[in-house]
Amino acid sequence: MARILIEGGIPLSGEIAVGGAKNAALPIMAATLLCGDPIRLSNVPRLNDVETMQKVLRALGGTVAWEGPHEMAITCDGGIKEEAPYELVKAMRASFFVMGPLLARLRRARVPLPGGCAIGVRPVNIHLKGFEALGAKVSIDGGFAVATADRLQGARIHLDFPSVGATENLMMAATLAEGTTVIENAAQEPEIVDLADFLNAMGAKVQGAGGPTIQIEGVRQLRGVSYRVIPDRIDAGTFLVLGAMTRGPLVIKDAQPAHQMAVIAKLQEMGATIDVQGDRMTVEARGRLRGVDVKTLPYPGFPTDMQAQITVAMCLAQGTSLVTETVFENRFMHIAELVRMGANLNIRDRTVVINGVDRLIGCPVSASDLRAGAALVMAGLVAEGRTEVGNVFHIDRGYENLVERLARLGARISRLEEPATPPDHSRR
Ligand code: UD1
Repeated sequence: MARILIEGGIPLSGEIAVGGAKNAALPIMAATLLCGDPIRLSNVPRLNDVETMQKVLRALGGTVAWEGPHEMAITCDGGIKEEAPYELVKAMRASFFVMGPLLARLRRARVPLPGGCAIGVRPVNIHLKGFEALGAKVSIDGGFAVATADRLQGARIHLDFPSVGATENLMMAATLAEGTTVIENAAQEPEIVDLADFLNAMGAKVQGAGGPTIQIEGVRQLRGVSYRVIPDRIDAGTFLVLGAMTRGPLVIKDAQPAHQMAVIAKLQEMGATIDVQGDRMTVEARGRLRGVDVKTLPYPGFPTDMQAQITVAMCLAQGTSLVTETVFENRFMHIAELVRMGANLNIRDRTVVINGVDRLIGCPVSASDLRAGAALVMAGLVAEGRTEVGNVFHIDRGYENLVERLARLGARISRLEEPATPPDHSRR
């Protein structure tokens, strides 16, 4: 199990490049199941979650290979199977994205229910209700969601909540349905727009992505394409917050600043300066940041995936801040770890009350999920003394070369790969 070791309190500055968006790449990879032609993706991040999706596609009969540092070739021709393996879906719930494409292409799909995770119960009921609305027969059998349909039929679907995953799964399923599908109360995240652009490049007819109503006119067949994935707004946002906390200047390049408005607005309210030039954002702060209130919401609101990171900035800001999590019911696992570092935090229901302190003090902490892990690394970078972050595999799911990139900004940070503990035979 790897650990990240950090000597905190070192000023950071310099340039950092943003990678391709994990949450755009994963559904786009799943969407390659919709046709048998070769597909080439670029700007794909090298992350554990991406490797897991590659394994899912291979298990379903696809051919997947890296063709360059961030280029991937995928072909899902011939004998595509209808059943996704439980081990992979359990490891990454985004594997459930294959359900819509499999159902559309094969007219049947068997995908394990992903189960809950550290941030909430995370059901897939909205996905399944949508497949039913498209005319599929859906049942649960031995832990699998099973769906069958002669050919999916276009329908008007109103989502109970603008779920990102459900919008994507239904959009993919509807591309090959008979007639027109309208998804109302759809998620509006930039990753939805990227998936729609990819599907349209394959020959689909998707309109309105990025707004609350998406219209999909079904087509008979899709074709192969080359496609570049958008920059990762959470990777960029993490470095924006880090730059504001460490005062910078930090230049974040290869980003899409238009996707960053909620984070930029909050950091400005906290007293940071952010200068945007094309695909570059320069962040700096002159003095101590000020406390603010943040509520996580679906896009274009403040992203839940940035909640843990901005909380760390608030730990050292002047005054009291409030963070209210409305998207996931249990996304506060990092709070207890931050308290161990000397932060003054109290949870009341779905809100964290943060009273800014003068300093954090390094200690061993453990990542509970991907973004919580990034937040603990950030806390370690501004804390006095040494911090060790454990359960680094969570961070590897969503940040490419985080340690190397931070070291290039001046951080004293390293990664310790520990061999797995040998089995203890003494108690047999
Ligand atoms: C995606 C992102 C994740 C991000 C989240 C919210 C990917 C791979 N992951 O996750 O990083 O944090 O959007 O921005 O893109 N819900 C239901 N029933 C459903 C589906 C969702 O009740 O069928 C609930 C969830 O439990 C959660 C909320 O809706 O409380 C939001 O979930 P959703 O938008 O679906 O997130 P994901 O697609 O899982």
